[in-house]
Amino acid sequence: MINNETCDNHREVNTLDQMLIIENTLKKYQFLWDKEPIDYYPNLPSNTLGFIGELQNYSSEELIELENLNAKAKTPLLSELFKDLKDSLLRINQLKQEARINQNELRGLSLKKCHEIKRLIPILEELSPTLIHDIGSGKAPLSFLMAQRNLEMQFKCYDLDKTLQTSAIKKNQNNMALKRINFIHQTISSKSQLDLKDRELLFGLHACGDLSIDLIKILIKEGNDLFNIPCCFHKQTKQNLSGHQSLKLNKFALTLANRGQINITPKALSIRNEYKTYRYALQMIYFNKYQKLIMSLGNAHKSWYQLSFHDYVKKYDQDLFYLDNLNKSFYALKKTINDYLLIEVIRNPIGRLLEHYLLLDRVLYLEKNNFKVELIELFNNELSPKNIALKATKSI
Ligand SMILES: C[S@@+](CC[C@H](N)C(=O)[O-])C[C@H]1O[C@@H](n2cnc3c(N)ncnc32)[C@H](O)[C@@H]1O
Repeated sequence: MINNETCDNHREVNTLDQMLIIENTLKKYQFLWDKEPIDYYPNLPSNTLGFIGELQNYSSEELIELENLNAKAKTPLLSELFKDLKDSLLRINQLKQEARINQNELRGLSLKKCHEIKRLIPILEELSPTLIHDIGSGKAPLSFLMAQRNLEMQFKCYDLDKTLQTSAIKKNQNNMALKRINFIHQTISSKSQLDLKDRELLFGLHACGDLSIDLIKILIKEGNDLFNIPCCFHKQTKQNLSGHQSLKLNKFALTLANRGQINITPKALSIRNEYKTYRYALQMIYFNKYQKLIMSLGNAHKSWYQLSFHDYVKKYDQDLFYLDNLNKSFYALKKTINDYLLIEVIRNPIGRLLEHYLLLDRVLYLEKNNFKVELIELFNNELSPKNIALKATKSI
């Protein structure tokens, strides 16, 4: 049983039922997440015409509020969609307690990292393990700060990147905490044997893709406690751990799951529209001439979007893909492009539901293996969007 509840009736729902609620909503709106909208060109994804018609009546400020799930929709189709979402999304408890840390000790760390560390320390101190196995620790800033505050605690910091570890050791040569931090250069997989003892915590902050799943497998094999904040869902190759996930998420859905908690701001919206407008225009003009989409455009430098459309295309291909009148064709397509851009406003909240679906699969799998599991919204999503922690403790 997970401590989340459905929206209005405040009753506890077991994890499997909750997973089915999410699954039904995902099935209803599959046309929004199982492909990129532009891949339907010259058509729009089926069933989206009504949504686009409604979205055209909202100001860009209102669209931002809708996308961030902060406002009520005032038109019928959107009201139904956002109600479905609200009723299906997990209600995840937030933890906002922060450790007080001297600013000097945080020198050199990004705002994001400082925020994560301040939120993590209280909860890890409350768990008070004797040793933390910090998996995918990188330069291990969290372990260093914890070690300075908790003079009894030991740390094993694992990472496949030796240079990060060497640089952390060099930087902390005179730091007494280093004595209790053991850097281990190792690629962790589900088969790794970590020799976990009682009261030792398996931990992974932003353990990418499969690594978070491997931590769960290691926990089931040999551990008691896990605290994990997963990230990079688009890199995960393993799904349906529980045997109850009947929808297999493809690469588009996993990428969308990754965007679920991103808070959109006016600036982020304008950058997103700038990027997508050029990419979509090129795809459309190419399709109109060759009746197929360009397979993969690859990465563009942000400065390319400041060029004229003609010069932007030139950056990809000196021969401009043998397309003519690019600037003129681009302006003729702007209204059509806008329809595709509007769909993003409703796709991103679906990403949040996809993320919850993937997390519930892990929760269910752990529960089937006799762990008590809790999901916690730990970070402010404006600072650190991959902000949901999974805490698992072996039931006695
Ligand atoms: C997103 S970074 C997180 C670093 C650190 N935990 C933090 O939040 O500051 C992920 C780290 O995991 C490491 N990593 C990824 N896969 C790994 C694996 N299978 N075994 C060990 N380390 C891994 C990477 O080298 C990288 O340093």
